[in-house]
Amino acid sequence: MKHLLSLESMPREAMDAVLQAAAGFKQHRNNPDRKPLSGQTWALIFSKSSTRTRVSFEVGIHEMGGRPLFLNANDIQLGRGEPIKDTARVLGRMVHGAVIRTFAQRDVEEFARYSGIPTVNALTDDEHPCQVLTDIHTFQERRGPIQGKVVTFVGDGACNMPISWIFAAAKLGFELRIAAPKAFQPSVEVLRRAGGRVLVTEDLSIAASGADLVYTDVWVSMGKEAESAERLRVLEGYQINADVLKRAKPDALVMHCLPAYRGKEIDEATFESHADTIFDQAENRLHVQKAILDWMVR
Ligand code: CP
Ligand code: NVA
Repeated sequence: MKHLLSLESMPREAMDAVLQAAAGFKQHRNNPDRKPLSGQTWALIFSKSSTRTRVSFEVGIHEMGGRPLFLNANDIQLGRGEPIKDTARVLGRMVHGAVIRTFAQRDVEEFARYSGIPTVNALTDDEHPCQVLTDIHTFQERRGPIQGKVVTFVGDGACNMPISWIFAAAKLGFELRIAAPKAFQPSVEVLRRAGGRVLVTEDLSIAASGADLVYTDVWVSMGKEAESAERLRVLEGYQINADVLKRAKPDALVMHCLPAYRGKEIDEATFESHADTIFDQAENRLHVQKAILDWMVR
């Protein structure tokens, strides 16, 4: 039984297999030679908002021959307090796989343990593995192997996106730099568990120097809305803009997992001049997640 619960727990070989297969799913989107989810129903259980993740999984499961069943966590008994382990044991007897977006990482892990069906982390507070695998695929489409390259993450360095980047860096052999104020830096424990070449600094110009990819994410992640004012105050300045890009390589890529807040983590002109890459990232969620699902059911 395979799951994708985190990049921390995903073996390097599995990452390689998914990244390799993704291009084929993209190239043959309209002409698939097999439908590995034929006859299957996959539940999408979401406790947080989503545009890209929901649509890409619903369309992807459908195109692979399966049926997606979207369940807003608030519309099922889970939202009224039914335990995860009971929900998991019910769904495990009815559907063939689950894609879960929620808050606590342990909830996705508990679901996987009790359901007995392949389970995908579609974003928790700790990780967003499908997004980072997609971002790496998007980088490699344009620039070749990410190994040995420099990736700079700017902004909230303690949220799910940079954490998944940290675990990917050690496994895939690229250098990661995180530019974030002290209060929003990744924990020493995460850095220790991951290993690899990761620089964490408050100095954005040092972090951006010579970067091959400059990446950002929202300053206020889902679930952190009560901290908005404080986050906007402390993170001000940790923005991708023309000044920051002057430090990076001349052909550096700019990426954003979206949704984007112009004037906060990225300015309008920089966003629009890198929109081709950013919306390729969004599209590639579909192709890379098909490769993930295919790897899981093999
Ligand atoms: N990047 C991403 O996961 O987008 P959604 O929140 O719209 O799914
Ligand atoms: N860090 C963001 C990612 C959104 C895709 C959040 O959790 O809201």
